[in-house]
Amino acid sequence: MVSKTKEITTLIKNAKKEARAEVKKTPQEEAPYTGPVKWPVNCIVGPGLEGAIACESKIGYVNGSKGELIYRGYDIFDLCAHSSFEEVSYLLLHGELPTGKQHERFSSQLLHCRRVPQTIRTLMGFPVEKMNAMAALRLGTNLMRQESTYVDQEAYRPDRFPSISADEDSIPMETRPRGEKHAIYEFKEKKGGSKPKEVDKKYGPPVGFTPTYRLISGVATIAGAVERIRRGALPLEPDPDLSHAGNLVYMITGRRPTPIEERIMDVTLILHADHGMNASTFATMVVASTLSDMYLAVGSGIAALNGPLHGGANAEVLKMLREIDDPKKAKGWFEQTCEKKKKIMGFGHRVYKAYDPRARVLGPLAEYLVENRGSDEIKRLYATAKELEKLAIARLGETKGIFPNVDFYSGIVYSCLGIPVEMFTALFAVSRVAGWTSRVMEYLENNRIFRPRAVYAGSFGKKYVPVAKREE
Ligand code: SDX
Repeated sequence: MVSKTKEITTLIKNAKKEARAEVKKTPQEEAPYTGPVKWPVNCIVGPGLEGAIACESKIGYVNGSKGELIYRGYDIFDLCAHSSFEEVSYLLLHGELPTGKQHERFSSQLLHCRRVPQTIRTLMGFPVEKMNAMAALRLGTNLMRQESTYVDQEAYRPDRFPSISADEDSIPMETRPRGEKHAIYEFKEKKGGSKPKEVDKKYGPPVGFTPTYRLISGVATIAGAVERIRRGALPLEPDPDLSHAGNLVYMITGRRPTPIEERIMDVTLILHADHGMNASTFATMVVASTLSDMYLAVGSGIAALNGPLHGGANAEVLKMLREIDDPKKAKGWFEQTCEKKKKIMGFGHRVYKAYDPRARVLGPLAEYLVENRGSDEIKRLYATAKELEKLAIARLGETKGIFPNVDFYSGIVYSCLGIPVEMFTALFAVSRVAGWTSRVMEYLENNRIFRPRAVYAGSFGKKYVPVAKREE
């Protein structure tokens, strides 16, 4: 596979060269967000916690003015050129690239965690085909939790009782409590009823690494199942001979990817794995900081990532390009959008005021795929994207530091790999689970529940007036 995919490695190395050449022209270093933090720390905070420092981390660093991204000290271009999503997940979680033995053990753990048959079986009982893919993915992580954490088995497992056999409509609700002896359903555990499964001590505290491995591996399988069910097909068993990236393409499309497609999906997963204190990572950490558990924390990360201002942008970009649908119409569309002060999906970033390094790799990958296998439609959309990029950088790049971000080209890459647009954001989540869980594990080493303040701008000293005396 290495020989066939060498051209992808060359493409990434060229993208790095181009990025470094560009950087010389951008303004100097931003206020340093590096080095150990001596609490309490001074920072200038804007709305949406812009500029706020939430914690110290060794996991990843985004240099917004230079357009640089590193994971545990390694440059993202180098990891894309030489590493794999499995290796990068290990690096994010454990701090170093794995040795041969560590890689072997970790990969077999992920392989073991990839099959989640109970979760998929339960998921199929829900109207997944009518659900937003991210809502279904989040539901899947809750179902995983049901099966996998000792907390549920021990104390709160609602399905310890035989489930109610009647269907939804025939389950009456009591209009007023009529007391135990009239209760319609006996919810008391039947004498000698089923005991919760033996609590498996190996889980240790709810945030041991096991849930982390289960989620990094299992969320990909759930994403595959969500797409298959949406399409009215049965979920596919993961193929143990395929890598994480290869399985993801296989379980979603039903087709084993070519070595090049597998390599490109792997690079895309590496690019999306971690990105500092973004909204979904922060959401995950806030939930975990209350000592909830990893499954519910990842569920909150999925919820946050869903928004079109965040991970949901990758799908919005494709819709936007389809709306323009012709490079010749890009200028008119762009002028109109600027006049209406509307945001262009896939552009801008809270931290990057330079070209997002991830887009520097995804752009050439999109070009490679479009040239080698793109349909006429995707060729047109790619040409439209290039035209829009030119216009937007000319107008907004230098003046406002608005450049393409990770979401601008990722949808074209996914489309060329046969991934439907409804699954784009779910793929972002499949990768970002590695960053979410890594940062939770790191933060919980010195946990402190997140609890910022709001400035009260309301009134004081109001007297209570009963509703009868209040004027309409
Ligand atoms: C991701 O944080 C992360 O790291 C996120 C992420 C990750 O890996 O986790 O990188 C993933 O979420 C990437 C971003 C995907 N979202 C989009 O592509 C949606 C479009 N982008 C914008 O919504 C916006 O750029 C944000 C949300 C990404 C960042 O917004 P900010 O930092 O809150 O900026 P802002 O809304 O305060 O805008 C500042 C100025 C405004 O102009 P003025 O009012 O000062 O004149 O920049 C303008 C904005 O109008 N602007 C844009 C723009 N983004 C900002 N103008 C046109 N098009 C845009 N996309």
